[in-house]
Amino acid sequence: MSDTSPPAAGPDPARTPRALGDAAAIPLLDDDTQQLKRLIDGVVDFAIYMLDTEGHVRSWNTGGERIKGYTREEVIGTHFSRFYTPEDIASDAPARGLRIAREEGRFTAEGWRVRKGGAVFHASVVIDPIWQDDVLVGYAKVTRDITDRLEDQERLEQSRDALLQAHKLEAVGKLTLGLAHDFNNLLNIIINSLELVDHYTMQPKAKKHLQGAMRAAERGALLTRQLLTFGTGRVLVSERHSVATVIHEAMDTLRRACHDGVTLYARFDDDLPGIDVDREQLEAALLNLVSNSRDAMPAGGHIAITATLRECAPPHAADAAASRFICIEVSDNGDGIPADDQARVFEPFFTTKEVGKGSGLGLSQVFGFARQSGGFAELKSASGEGTTVSLCLPVPRDPE
Ligand SMILES: Nc1ncnc2c1ncn2[C@@H]1O[C@H](COP(=O)(O)OP(=O)(O)OP(=O)(O)O)[C@@H](O)[C@H]1O
Ligand SMILES: [Mg+2]
Repeated sequence: MSDTSPPAAGPDPARTPRALGDAAAIPLLDDDTQQLKRLIDGVVDFAIYMLDTEGHVRSWNTGGERIKGYTREEVIGTHFSRFYTPEDIASDAPARGLRIAREEGRFTAEGWRVRKGGAVFHASVVIDPIWQDDVLVGYAKVTRDITDRLEDQERLEQSRDALLQAHKLEAVGKLTLGLAHDFNNLLNIIINSLELVDHYTMQPKAKKHLQGAMRAAERGALLTRQLLTFGTGRVLVSERHSVATVIHEAMDTLRRACHDGVTLYARFDDDLPGIDVDREQLEAALLNLVSNSRDAMPAGGHIAITATLRECAPPHAADAAASRFICIEVSDNGDGIPADDQARVFEPFFTTKEVGKGSGLGLSQVFGFARQSGGFAELKSASGEGTTVSLCLPVPRDPE
């Protein structure tokens, strides 16, 4: 069949090169078959190819090469099961696809397929049987790479989850805010009164109980402060402070937070520059870190607090120019954090502790405070090998 001769009335615009969009580049095609072949060949977003009745590849297009990675020479004559995963091959999925197409007139599916080199992609697949005079002569197969669509869908679901989580957190924030204020005031009265009683009591037994009560009240006060910070997104009140002095003056409270078997010591570089920091938040962060270390060493151990000057780019902005930070590290030789949990420990409310022992707000306070102060927090830990959390706070350009 040939239809190259133009009709008497003039060239059919649908068949001229101009109608295809490029006046000079595309020659007139020989016949419908050639035209169809070129059309299919030029499709890049779909692998469109023919199989014989047994499933061997008989034709190949540019889309096939782009999506599956094989050239025409590599693929023609081979069996199409090479595009399937070993699990699908084991369950006879290629033959099943052909059978369903043959018996039901079409086979459609979505699933994982394998590119040249072994990488997998998510594919949308259609197989149609081709009949000639009631005799099956092969199959037409169309495959589309829908990995992007799948990823978009996953991203959409993740952002939906995140939004839901944000609404949940907002509701929790509102709920806790009102209560936390009153609790904080009450606990401060209790702590001050306990300190006074401790001052006037000489009895060792009573002192021991008082210390225990003070520890519990301080933990309660820390918790309510954290809930307040969390609920209000508190604005930092920064003033110039010496980190060494802040740590030094917090040591009594920090020691009190530790139980008997735990030794706590602090070591600083000499002449650390002053930094602009919210002192109350820094103290809360230290107490959070020391409490975590204590809880990781139920049988006792050592906690070291160090403060050093470091010049680096923050890890969340690795391209930024290096600048100076004071890095406060709290290290312990406790249980360590399993690799699976490490990505989650800075999340609000993530805790592995039993109810009443942990709220899961400690590290999120440390992380949030570090970032809000223009610094960063880092975690180094391995199961059974202890934990070091670094809280790095920026040194102002004009340190005193
Ligand atoms: N030094 C550490 N050693 C071992 N595990 C730790 C350490 N610090 C944190 N973790 C793990 O990270 C989790 C989250 O810590 P985070 O301080 O945020 O909450 P929490 O201690 O459980 O509760 P709280 O709000 O009372 O601090 C802990 O439950 C614990 O599993
Ligand atoms: Mg904690």
